[in-house]
Amino acid sequence: MMPEIAPDQMIEQLRWRYAVKRFDATRKIDEETWSALEQSLILTPSSYGLQPWKFIVITDQELKDQLPAISWNQKQPQDCSHMVILAGRKVVDTAYIDRYMKSVVVTRQLAADAMDGYRNTLVRIVEQIPNHLDWNARQVYIALGQLMVAAAMLGVDTCPMEGIDTAAYDKILGLEDDVFTSVVGCAVGYRHPDDLQASAAKVRFDRKELVEYR
Ligand SMILES: Cc1cc2nc3c(=O)[nH]c(=O)nc-3n(C[C@H](O)[C@H](O)[C@H](O)COP(=O)(O)O)c2cc1C
Repeated sequence: MMPEIAPDQMIEQLRWRYAVKRFDATRKIDEETWSALEQSLILTPSSYGLQPWKFIVITDQELKDQLPAISWNQKQPQDCSHMVILAGRKVVDTAYIDRYMKSVVVTRQLAADAMDGYRNTLVRIVEQIPNHLDWNARQVYIALGQLMVAAAMLGVDTCPMEGIDTAAYDKILGLEDDVFTSVVGCAVGYRHPDDLQASAAKVRFDRKELVEYR
């Protein structure tokens, strides 16, 4: 089967991507493009398919204007087109597992009890996971990676952002007593033509150091 995208094209897009320092505040992502990027978040794989996340997309300029103050004074959340806060579930409880199992049964048109065995195993497994938010945050980072790569394939710029005050974001987004909490951010939009970072050489260790074949 022919690959959908040629290997050299894929690498070209990944090399084109860089963590944007300065976004062009005048450029917004169009609806069709954003809708595809939204799908890249939704289609992210997760452990057991549990999707222990919520993606909060900030486009309101008044809200965006308040974000540098809670992002180590970084301007990307203010100037980008769509600021995504990737939030993780604090707890995966039995009720949530049941909700997920119900969605499997409905989506795949299975018998009502078809997932019962799997469900019971999963309840036992999840009970043994010491820190659910830790586990869920790792899933959230997969969504971050998928969003950045998907954006790069469409020629859309991103900046992954751990330099945010997640407690302050929870506050501003009304998540303080929610089942979700902010984990990491991703500013999405278009690079400013004067962002010098765009022309900085990529810094990566040698492949021989990073990849081992056996
Ligand atoms: C999880 C994560 C958090 C990051 N947080 C920030 C951030 O808060 N601000 C920023 O300017 N860059 C941030 N970066 C960007 C990294 O510094 C950058 O990805 C790295 O230096 C490699 O450069 P490149 O992405 O341009 O290839 C973050 C990257 C990752 C993966």
